[in-house]
Amino acid sequence: MNAIDPAVSVDKLTKSYGSFTALTGVTFDIERGETFALLGPNGAGKSTTIEILEGYRDRSGGEARVLGSDPQRGGLAWKARIGIVLQSSGESGNVTVREQLTQFAGYYPNPRSVDEVIAAVGLEDKANTRLKSLSGGQRRRVDVALGVIGRPELLFLDEPTTGFDPEARRHFWELIRSLKREGTTILLTTHYLDEAAQLSDRAAVIAAGTLVAIGPIDTLGSDEARTPIVRWLENGIAREQRASDPGRVVAELVGRLGEPAGLEIVRPSLEDIYLGLVGAYEADLASRASHTPRPPSASSTPSASSTKDQVSA
Ligand SMILES: Nc1ncnc2c1ncn2[C@@H]1O[C@H](COP(=O)(O)OP(=O)(O)OP(=O)(O)O)[C@@H](O)[C@H]1O
Ligand SMILES: [Mg+2]
Repeated sequence: MNAIDPAVSVDKLTKSYGSFTALTGVTFDIERGETFALLGPNGAGKSTTIEILEGYRDRSGGEARVLGSDPQRGGLAWKARIGIVLQSSGESGNVTVREQLTQFAGYYPNPRSVDEVIAAVGLEDKANTRLKSLSGGQRRRVDVALGVIGRPELLFLDEPTTGFDPEARRHFWELIRSLKREGTTILLTTHYLDEAAQLSDRAAVIAAGTLVAIGPIDTLGSDEARTPIVRWLENGIAREQRASDPGRVVAELVGRLGEPAGLEIVRPSLEDIYLGLVGAYEADLASRASHTPRPPSASSTPSASSTKDQVSA
């Protein structure tokens, strides 16, 4: 792999499960050292994408390169360079936290210290507890610990903090920031948009297997969607105005009304922008579906795309 090659490169990636198309042709790169968030509703295709890149699932079409290799053909040396936290792992059993981590550390050429990793995920008190006796959130912390123990160059995190309490989530953010400082490349999926905004350099939004937006976190969405909103009460009526320079609007209001009641400036969060993007995409899909002419025998035809397949077959 060349020094300037991206850590991950995906080109027109498709995945079908039988007749169902889970990915329609997704294209993106992740630069080395970058933290990249893959966002999208349940069933959008995030785990499918990430598991293809981990070498856990085969793709149906398109190209994928991960640390210079095709993930479908990644050997042991390649696997030792990546860390994986699957969406559901089910790590349990009679071994203790420390034993499990020590065993995994033995698989890697240059692992982290087991005790440091235990501390980084906040499990010092449970180091000698058997996995089967851990709570759900504690078990999830073990998953994260196992993902980082091998000092990976590239870390895949599929909803890593689901089940974490708020303090554990903040702890995890610190861990990710320290991995970033060391130069680790990270691909993260999460439904916590504040987490994505805190941790990632860039994000992609995927809906129904299609990439609908990609870019640095603070450039996602339309200019309008990112524009702050000034809200206030005037004669008891709630008013609002979008303004790229909210200070000017506030100054005008103060000149006209004195200090208006209920005055606030709301800057759209990543969650607001994400919901706007996904909502617009879903509305567009629904409108296209309702405008697709139905063939005479359409009553048993489930979707526009399968109609096309039948016509062209
Ligand atoms: N093994 C499988 N066989 C058939 N369909 C599958 C399989 N795995 C996933 N799918 C389907 O593919 C689509 C994408 O699933 P995927 O798990 O990638 O979604 P996701 O974006 O990770 O969702 P979530 O946020 O719920 O984790 C879903 O509609 C799912 O039902
Ligand atoms: Mg998933």
